[in-house]
Amino acid sequence: MRMSVSNIGALFELDLRFMTLLGWTADMARIAVTDGMAKDAVSLLEQSGHEVVLGTISKGDLAQGALSEFDAIVVRSATKLPAEVIAASGDRLSVIGRAGVGVDNIDIVAAAKAGIPVVNAPRASTQSVVELTMGHLLASLRHIPRSDRSLRDGQWEKKAMKGTELSGKNLGLIGFGRIAQGVGAIAQALGMSIHTYDPYLPPKVAKIQNTTLHKNVDTLFSNCTHISIHCNLNDETHHLVNAERLALMPGRSNDGIACGNHIVNCARGGIIDEDALLAALEDGTLSSAALDVFEIEPVPASAPLLQHPHFHGTPHIGAATMEAQARVGRDIALAIMKVLDGGVCDTTVNSHLLG
Ligand code: MLT
Repeated sequence: MRMSVSNIGALFELDLRFMTLLGWTADMARIAVTDGMAKDAVSLLEQSGHEVVLGTISKGDLAQGALSEFDAIVVRSATKLPAEVIAASGDRLSVIGRAGVGVDNIDIVAAAKAGIPVVNAPRASTQSVVELTMGHLLASLRHIPRSDRSLRDGQWEKKAMKGTELSGKNLGLIGFGRIAQGVGAIAQALGMSIHTYDPYLPPKVAKIQNTTLHKNVDTLFSNCTHISIHCNLNDETHHLVNAERLALMPGRSNDGIACGNHIVNCARGGIIDEDALLAALEDGTLSSAALDVFEIEPVPASAPLLQHPHFHGTPHIGAATMEAQARVGRDIALAIMKVLDGGVCDTTVNSHLLG
C-alpha cells in the first residue's frame, strides 16, 4: 500500500508502526540534521522511510556543496546557511528546516531565490523561553547568582543581598509576540504593569492583553525600570538597546521604591549593545543585566561583561528543555515531510519571497 505523505501529520497520531506493518512506504529522502534533534523526531522521519544523516557539516564542506547530496536539512542555530552555501547546494535541496524560531542563521532570501522554502517551529519553545525569562528576572532582583557565588566563597552576606519585588513595577517588553505575551501574562499575575513597544502590533491586541503600547521605544525606556527583549534581530533592532536609551530608565518605580533598572535578553544577541550594557552596569545606570544570548556565541569567558558582579548569564538555553525540544523536533519533522511531499507548510518563513 502506498500513501501520500501529505496525510502524515494526522496519521502519525494514529499509529505509524501499524501503518508500517500494513506495508506503508513513502518516497525516501535524504535529510541532514546538523545541530541535533530529539530522538522521537528522528524516528518519525526514519519510520516514514527517510534517511536521516546526523552530524555537523563543516563550514568548508557546506561552502563546497555538501548539501547537494541532500533533499532537506534541519539546523538549529549553530549551522550557518548564508547565500553562498545555498548557491552551492545545487538543485536537490528542496527544504530547509529550522528546529526553533529565529532564522537569522539562514539567508531566507537566497533560499527563496533558489526556490527552497525555509520552515521553522515558531510555537514549540514559547513556554520554555517564557519560563527562562521569568527565571532571569527573578534571579536578578533577588541576587540569586550573586548570592550563590558569595556562599561558595564562604560569605553570609544577608544585608548585601536585599532585593526588590516584581510587584508594583513597570515591565517593558520590546516585541510583543507569543513569548512576550506569555511573559506579560505571568508578570501581570505577579502584580507588574506591562508596557510594550512593537511597531507591528495591532493596537487591539495590546488592549486585549492589557498592555500600554508605546509608539516610540524611548518612552518605553523612560517608563520602565525592568525591560525584557522579545523581538527579532534585524537592521532595525541591531543595538536598539544603547547607552542613550538605558540612560532614560527611571530607576524608581511607581510605588516609590528605588528598585534600580534591570534588563533581560532571551531573544537574540546583537539587539543590546554589550559595551553600553557593561558601561551602564559600571556607572550604576543599570542595577542588573541577565543575558541568555550574546552578540558573539559562545561568548568568551574573558568577556568583561561576564566579570561584572551584577551580570549573570546562560548559554542560549531558552528552548533547551525536554518538552520544547520534543515539540520542536516533532513540528519540524512534520513540516519537512509535508514539504517533501509537495505540500505547503504554514510555518514557511520565506513564503512571501517564493515564486
Ligand atoms: C530559537 O530561535 O529557537 C532559540 O533561540 C533557540 C535556538 O536557537 O536553538
